Amino acid sequence: MTTTPRNILITGAGSGIGAAVAKVFTDAGDRVHLLDISADRLAQVAQELPTELVEQYPVDVTDFDAVQEAVAKVASHGSIDVLAGCAGVFDGLATVETTTRELWDRVIDINLTGTFNVVKPVAAQMISQKSGSIVLMSSIAAHRATPDGLAYDASKAGLEGMTRRLAVDLGPHGINANIVAPGVIRTGIRATSEEILGELVPDTNVGVGTNPELRDMLVPLRRAAEASEVASTVFFLAGEGASYISGDVIHVDGGWIAA
Ligand SMILES: NC(=O)c1ccc[n+]([C@@H]2O[C@H](COP(=O)([O-])OP(=O)(O)OC[C@H]3O[C@@H](n4cnc5c(N)ncnc54)[C@H](O)[C@@H]3O)[C@@H](O)[C@H]2O)c1
Repeated sequence: MTTTPRNILITGAGSGIGAAVAKVFTDAGDRVHLLDISADRLAQVAQELPTELVEQYPVDVTDFDAVQEAVAKVASHGSIDVLAGCAGVFDGLATVETTTRELWDRVIDINLTGTFNVVKPVAAQMISQKSGSIVLMSSIAAHRATPDGLAYDASKAGLEGMTRRLAVDLGPHGINANIVAPGVIRTGIRATSEEILGELVPDTNVGVGTNPELRDMLVPLRRAAEASEVASTVFFLAGEGASYISGDVIHVDGGWIAA
C-alpha cells in the first residue's frame, strides 16, 4: 500500500486496459479518477473497486471544454500525480481506399486530438506541482502496418511523437512521459469501437486479434495478453522504479516487435 494515496487520472477507464489500470492502482491504495465516454461502463467498473477510492467522469475526450472541467475537478483533490491515457478506438483494417474522410477525422479526433485535450491541462497542473508521470497508450500499429487501419496507425505513431515532445517539455519540471505499445490484448475494443464509430467503421471483427494461427506466427509468446499485463506496465512506468525513464516506448507485445 502507498502511504499517501496518489491521484490517478485514467481515460478510457470504462473497459479493457483502462479498467485494469484502475484496478492495479486501487489495489495499491491510490485514488482513481475514471474518465470515459460511457457512463454505464464507468459505473460497472467502479462497482468492482473500493468506493472511497473512485471518482467518475462521464466525458468524451474530444470535447475540449468538458475535458478541461473534468481535469480541474481532479486537480481539486490536491494534485494529479499520474495520467494514464488509454481512451482509443480501432478502425478494423480500413485501408487507404476504405478510409473515408469522416472515419479519418473521428479516429484522429479521439485517439490523437482527444489525448492532447487531456494532456494539455494535466501538464499545466503537473508543472505547477513540479511532479507527475504521464503514460499514454500506443500500439504495435505504430510500428507494424498490418494489424490495424490507416487512421489508427497514424494516430498511434502521432502519440509516440507527442510523448517524446512531452518528455522534452516536462522533464525540466520533474515530470516523465512514456508510452506503452501493446500487441494483442483481450479487451472489448471491437464492440466499443463499433458502438462509438457506428457506420463509419468497416468490420472490426478482423485482424491478428481474431486469427489465432496468424497471431501465433507473429507473436513469439504465442498468446494474447490479459489487460492486467498492460496495466502492470503502466503502474511500473508511473512509479519510483521508472523515475529515470522518459520519452520511451515500452512494447507489451509478447515479442512481436522483435520477430
Ligand atoms: N486491445 C488491444 O489489443 C490493444 C492493442 C494495442 C493498443 N490498444 C490501445 O489500448 C487502449 C485501450 O484499448 P482497449 O483494448 O482497452 O479498448 P476498450 O474498448 O476495451 O476500452 C477503451 C475505452 O475507451 C473509451 N473511449 C473511446 N472513445 C472515447 C472518447 N471519445 N472519450 C472517452 N472515452 C472513450 C471507450 O468507451 C472504452 O471504454 C486504446 O488506446 C487502444 O488503441 C489496445
